[in-house]
Amino acid sequence: MKYSKTALLFLIVIFGFFPQTRIKGVMTLRPKLIQLTIIVLCTILLVSCQADTTISNDINDVLVDEAYIEELIEKFSPLGDVPIPEDNELTEEAVELGKKLFFDPRLSGNDELSCASCHVPTLGWSDGKPLFEGFEGAQGPRRTPTIINAAYHKSLFWDGRADSLEEQALGPISSPIEMNMNLDKLADKLSKIDGYTELFYDVYGEDITIDNIAKALASFQRTIVTTNTRFDQFLAGDYDALTEEEILGMDLFANKARCIACHNGPHLTDNRFHNVGIESDDIGLKEFTGRNADDGAFRTPGLYGITQHPPYMHDGSLETIEDVVEFYNRGGDDHINKSAMIKELNLTEKEKKALVAFLHTLEDRSLEEIEMPDLPDFE
Ligand code: HEC
Ligand code: HEC
Repeated sequence: MKYSKTALLFLIVIFGFFPQTRIKGVMTLRPKLIQLTIIVLCTILLVSCQADTTISNDINDVLVDEAYIEELIEKFSPLGDVPIPEDNELTEEAVELGKKLFFDPRLSGNDELSCASCHVPTLGWSDGKPLFEGFEGAQGPRRTPTIINAAYHKSLFWDGRADSLEEQALGPISSPIEMNMNLDKLADKLSKIDGYTELFYDVYGEDITIDNIAKALASFQRTIVTTNTRFDQFLAGDYDALTEEEILGMDLFANKARCIACHNGPHLTDNRFHNVGIESDDIGLKEFTGRNADDGAFRTPGLYGITQHPPYMHDGSLETIEDVVEFYNRGGDDHINKSAMIKELNLTEKEKKALVAFLHTLEDRSLEEIEMPDLPDFE
């Protein structure tokens, strides 16, 4: 591209400043007209190649060349392999069993709610509601987060109170406002359903236990992970995977909008807790630490698949992804404990659009197409 621009400039100079230049046989007819046409054509070509290599950013003109892209990519980390704990081998059989359990409403106290009632595959593995609806219509204080890439989180739940998927799984089953099932009775209940005992034996070589139920659910969830999003393809070197607008959005994410200060590393979370300035009475992390500094602080959520599951934030108060960008642009809302890192961003309309476009490159819609499992002895 650089060479063709130089060649075009050379032609303009030759024909513009040295009108006596003649090309034998061509210039003898109407030299002035042909000369003018060549200059105009070269200028048009030159301008159009210029437009090809720059994107107009209101702060400065970013040159989308390889060096620029490589520098931008340096700021991000690829997702990498799913972390698997040593004491829960990820086998196909364990995943199949975990999938049955995930979709089986008999894990709940009234046989009506399964994990998938709230973590709905076609709603980005969340439920599309601002606050969850649980056992017999009980309404939760928080929004159902997605389980997409939950396997990558170092701590789980909005306030990080569980350390692993194994530890997390039993929480919703026993919670009186979620599935309301007595854990002491669950293994016995499942063993009365024809088929489950054999399945547990095949996978774990032993009877149904509460630990094995948790392990199988965790194994299944380790397969609900994004693979090969356009963002990953771009990080891996396919620079055509993103449009110029999306690349500008990625640049804003890493620079002007400072999202990367917290949404960084694989899965775009620092695994830490912050108060981003949502006006709500939920004290978040403070409930466990008792520290005022943790008031209203929540774990930074990962952002893969983020556009697949509105609404947003722990209280579901932001309806669309555009609302989230607008929220950060105004420097969050009022909370006495708002992080000093949340400040007004002064993004232009075009920049806001680009940031949203970038967030869409983290989607993996194939996760929404899942075949329902056959449940043992289920009419
Ligand atoms: C009634 C709705 C409901 C049901 C049923 C439910 N969940 Fe959840 N799930 C939630 C809510 C709400 C949260 C967040 C709670 C919190 O952070 O305080 C959550 C959090 C999670 C998380 C943590 C995600 C993260 O990013 O930290 C995982 C994993 C999860 N649930 C898996 C499951 C599994 C497995 C089951 C079935 C055994 C299940 N859920 C059943 C509503 C539900
Ligand atoms: C100070 C750290 C921090 C910065 C900076 C930050 N975030 Fe967040 N982000 C968080 C935390 C913490 C939450 C959860 C807050 C809550 O629910 O109260 C969150 C939530 C979100 C959510 C909603 C997630 C969900 O599942 O509901 C999105 C989307 C998001 N951030 C995108 C961004 C973008 C885009 C930027 C840059 C404009 C940004 N964040 C800057 C820490 C941060």
